[in-house]
Amino acid sequence: MSYFEELDLPMDRYLEAHASTEPDILKKLRKETYQKTTQPHMISGYLQGRLLSILSKMITPKNILEIGTFTGYATLCLAEGLSEDGKIYTLDKNEDLAYIPQKYFQQSDYASQIEFILGDAAHTIKNLDIIWDLVFIDADKENYENYLQLIKPKLKSGSIILIDNVLWYGKVLEEHPNNKATQQIKLVNKIVTEDPDFENLILPLRDGIHLIRKK
Ligand SMILES: C[S@@+](CC[C@H](N)C(=O)[O-])C[C@H]1O[C@@H](n2cnc3c(N)ncnc32)[C@H](O)[C@@H]1O
Repeated sequence: MSYFEELDLPMDRYLEAHASTEPDILKKLRKETYQKTTQPHMISGYLQGRLLSILSKMITPKNILEIGTFTGYATLCLAEGLSEDGKIYTLDKNEDLAYIPQKYFQQSDYASQIEFILGDAAHTIKNLDIIWDLVFIDADKENYENYLQLIKPKLKSGSIILIDNVLWYGKVLEEHPNNKATQQIKLVNKIVTEDPDFENLILPLRDGIHLIRKK
């Protein structure tokens, strides 16, 4: 039985029925993502989106970094918590889909607070001389360790990192010596747990979100 077949679907429905409603702009964005993209499952889920929004509101960050914009759903969820003078920098390399996030960012209440940067994320991060209050890593899994190493010097005490898909459909419990994504996710989960500069736990929501705080 696969990881997803084991999920308790009635419980998922219960959880969704007891979470805040997503703003209308996000409903439209989700619909367009399913109509116009070939991998719509990459979008953050409804519950994950509300989690990102609430965590961001708890932190009221000045500077947020998102690695992996896709159609901009999580960007807009994270932006909900920005401080008045705050900014979210969201990075993606997919130029073909860029028109979707660009359109929704323009329509949103946060248009002036979103910097959407196209290009290779590692290259962009190196050029951003910013201390991050909140980071969401949700791009190519093969580069997760690289992203963590690039970001760590740009954190302050209390900064939060969220890393998505850290259970990798349950593959983290198995040996996958030839699967680079699985190896990277397992390695990053281990590095974070053993790093005395971090406190952390994995939230078992959806495909697992690593919640990390810089001490
Ligand atoms: C899972 S999706 C992001 C989903 C989005 N955060 C959300 O919650 O809706 C991953 C994205 O990472 C982007 N990506 C993959 N490798 C990248 C790289 N090296 N640099 C920048 N973006 C990359 C892909 O183009 C894709 O849009």
